[in-house]
Amino acid sequence: MNILITGGAGFIGSNLALHLIDLGHEITVLDNLSPQIHGSNPEETSPLYRSIKDKVRFVAGTVCDDAAWREVLPGQHAIVHLAAETGTGQSMYEIKRYVDINIGGTGLMLDLLANTDHQVKKVVVASSRSIYGEGKYFSETLGIVYPCARKESDMKAGNFDLMCAQSGEVLKLLATDEESKIHPSSVYGITKQNQEQMVLTVCKSLNIGAIALRYQNVYGPGQSLSNPYTGILSIFSTRIKNGNGINIFEDGKESRDFVYIDDIVRATTAALLADEVRDEVFGIGAGIATDVLTVAETLVRNYGVEVPITVTGAFRIGDIRHNFADLSKANRMLGFSPQVSFDEGIRNFSAWVDQQEVQVDTYDASIAEMSKRGLFK
Ligand SMILES: NC(=O)c1ccc[n+]([C@@H]2O[C@H](COP(=O)([O-])OP(=O)(O)OC[C@H]3O[C@@H](n4cnc5c(N)ncnc54)[C@H](O)[C@@H]3O)[C@@H](O)[C@H]2O)c1
Repeated sequence: MNILITGGAGFIGSNLALHLIDLGHEITVLDNLSPQIHGSNPEETSPLYRSIKDKVRFVAGTVCDDAAWREVLPGQHAIVHLAAETGTGQSMYEIKRYVDINIGGTGLMLDLLANTDHQVKKVVVASSRSIYGEGKYFSETLGIVYPCARKESDMKAGNFDLMCAQSGEVLKLLATDEESKIHPSSVYGITKQNQEQMVLTVCKSLNIGAIALRYQNVYGPGQSLSNPYTGILSIFSTRIKNGNGINIFEDGKESRDFVYIDDIVRATTAALLADEVRDEVFGIGAGIATDVLTVAETLVRNYGVEVPITVTGAFRIGDIRHNFADLSKANRMLGFSPQVSFDEGIRNFSAWVDQQEVQVDTYDASIAEMSKRGLFK
């Protein structure tokens, strides 16, 4: 197939492109080589871009540009739409940029699919677990609940767990499935919800098979070590490698579902190539919650660099407490089950980081930006 990957120079896109090339597909990448991800001179500063540039047809351009789309669309049989701004915290103050690129870029793609001649039969869009907000919990009093974002006053008092609105009991975390309530707690999450709903609705009307993949926290060799806005494994790694201590938010017990890049590539390929699977959403993760303190301690151990880890009790507005994916549907319909354990994945990731040049640590500046706007407490 001829496959267009938007954002194909990024972390997920470049790995996916290389895998699809191995399977014999022809890949076109549309990517604007955003400096936040690729540095100021991608030829020198972006190993991600360098890994694909000679193997794909690369078109430098933004998904917000009509002419760029008209250049890349002819002859494509499928699109994997990954291009996006991806920082949850940053999305809370760079609102127009996030809306323009994530929602506007997707709108433009769909407009052209609706109004020009093309051969596209399948679209896979990258959604995110961030659309669920807090996800799925169990209350002894109310049964299954989907709690709203936590109150600032509770968090200021050090109460970070989700509590039952009726009884006040601490809620029990459950795996979040595709039927779970959608109520994002960040602008980024809202744009992801919007992207997937637009893609599913419009593609259905055009008889194009569409799939939205709600990725959990993806990590692995190749992820940007210089972007302070997303990816806690890389943020922590860059801090440790610079000899800087790690401040852990809340009480360190907040957790995420960390899924290894190879598993994401496997799931995305399965969704793309399964002709009979269309008009569906899938949660894609490792299906296991790992707390943030464990992540920091494991990385410090792996790098063998002594830096202090401080659990600060501070918190960011828009952050969720926990989330992990229920993989039953992806397993049943895509045959997907993760192959790489967290232990193996973080070992591979740390070994890769050990071989990279140490990046400038700009994390404190990103926190200062949030503090200035009242988003970091
Ligand atoms: N990595 C994760 O943990 C994760 C989790 C959930 C969802 N996702 C989604 O998966 C997709 C890919 O994520 P990633 O981790 O590879 O991110 P990434 O930042 O590494 O890659 C995104 C790519 O898109 C490009 N891009 C940004 N704006 C663009 C624009 N206007 N036009 C063209 N290209 C543009 C960037 O240059 C970059 O190469 C995103 O849509 C993201 O929201 C990622």
